[in-house]
Amino acid sequence: MATDMPPVSIVIFGASGDLTERKLVPALFADFRKGRLPEQFAVVGYARTAYTHEQFRAHLRDGLQRFAEKAFDAAAWEAFAPHIWYVTGEYQAAEGYQKLRHFLSRHEPQASGHVYYLATVPDLFTPIAQQLGAAGMTEETDGYRRIVVEKPFGRDLASSQALDLALSQVFQEAQIYRIDHYLGKETAQNILFFRFANILFEPIWNRNYVDNVQITVEETVDVGRRGSYYDQAGVLRDMFQNHLLQLLTLVAMEPPASFQAEAVRNEKEKVLSAIQPIRLDETVRAQYDGYRAAKGVAPDSPTATYAAVKLYVDNWRWHGVPFYLRSGKALARKASEIIIEFQYPPHEIFDQHAFTPNLLSLCIQPDEGIHIKFEAKVPDSTQETRPVDMEFHYSDQFAMQGMPDAYERLLLDVLNGDASLFPRNDAIEVAWRVMDPVLQGWASPEAPPLRTYEPGSWGPIEIHELLARDGRYWRIGCACGKKDGECD
Ligand code: BG6
Repeated sequence: MATDMPPVSIVIFGASGDLTERKLVPALFADFRKGRLPEQFAVVGYARTAYTHEQFRAHLRDGLQRFAEKAFDAAAWEAFAPHIWYVTGEYQAAEGYQKLRHFLSRHEPQASGHVYYLATVPDLFTPIAQQLGAAGMTEETDGYRRIVVEKPFGRDLASSQALDLALSQVFQEAQIYRIDHYLGKETAQNILFFRFANILFEPIWNRNYVDNVQITVEETVDVGRRGSYYDQAGVLRDMFQNHLLQLLTLVAMEPPASFQAEAVRNEKEKVLSAIQPIRLDETVRAQYDGYRAAKGVAPDSPTATYAAVKLYVDNWRWHGVPFYLRSGKALARKASEIIIEFQYPPHEIFDQHAFTPNLLSLCIQPDEGIHIKFEAKVPDSTQETRPVDMEFHYSDQFAMQGMPDAYERLLLDVLNGDASLFPRNDAIEVAWRVMDPVLQGWASPEAPPLRTYEPGSWGPIEIHELLARDGRYWRIGCACGKKDGECD
């Protein structure tokens, strides 16, 4: 069963790379199996590597079996594979685009939409867009034309503006989809539903009740084979400017008047604009031991693989509430979580004074769910209390085989022309305005010292000082992946 969407050709530039086999094709395959792709569709890989159609299909099949083993189904693959094609070409020469154009016109039905997915290194975004424009492949006279750009959107404010300018010379803003895959995660999408499809939480979701907000994205993986990209990027560009700030907007934004893309995006932009300049002495930067030995990394690299920052969203709702953000690689656990720590009750009536504050934890991954920690009276005591948990786990409540991958949803949204989950250019620009001064500060003599941490540890100890100064602690609200008592 396929949908009544118009026919589409999804052209993936950089198709021989990692993202295509690891994420894009498994997501398209999953959408196909769920009957969500149009009846007539083509996935056309474009890259310099010389593959035949058959070789490319075999390469993708292999990738699916490796990266999405559980989702692999030989019969479904046999039905999916004939939709896959491959065109070999250069990125910066008109000839390849003529070949591509010719290929598409021969293979696709009339009025097919085109999605151009740029899964290449960022340096090629502008040349590819320009070549598409020059080849007349962006005009919407015979079906829609949309371009999807993977992060990083530039490496600072100036380069991001330059990229935007280059894209806008060829595409209308409505044709441009900037992917931040965190926004496609079910648990990230659910934040707005949790807040605005319920009445219980929103009345206390503000400076009158919230003490602080903590956003943690920890990864166990190190830089692996991505050393040359990562050494130029570092954790602020790789994770903060995009994923962490996007999570922050979902937690901090005002309720939009509707769930329409522009209404949601307007509110997000306002939150980012309200972030005050981050003080350098309220940042921690660190690198894991052994990072400099990774392939593609400079032997004296100052690149941070871990960062923690404190910031304020200075508006009516959040004035004075610190937001603490941290993220790093090569850590003890893989977990993305947002913790809302509430204030203590205003008046004590029990003998016991050492309460744990109420914590509301949005567990983004891997054990997706929402937990609330609150004090309960210990049975058979007079006034003793203990923190207990109320937990919602997706795996208990929803019958499904794991969560859908973020790309499944995001790619479908592109086909449907729904940009709600894609950051708008102004939000990306504001996010750079937030991070740029920190990036510059870290490259200056005023930079905080580069700390180190052991791979497999919980990160640099200095992150604790950042909160201790405020009389606070980093909290763990979701599964820590360790035995009881071993969590930080
Ligand atoms: C990517 C970063 O955007 O997100 C990677 O470039 C990082 O460095 C990845 O590992 C994390 O995504 P996820 O979905 O595994 O949390």
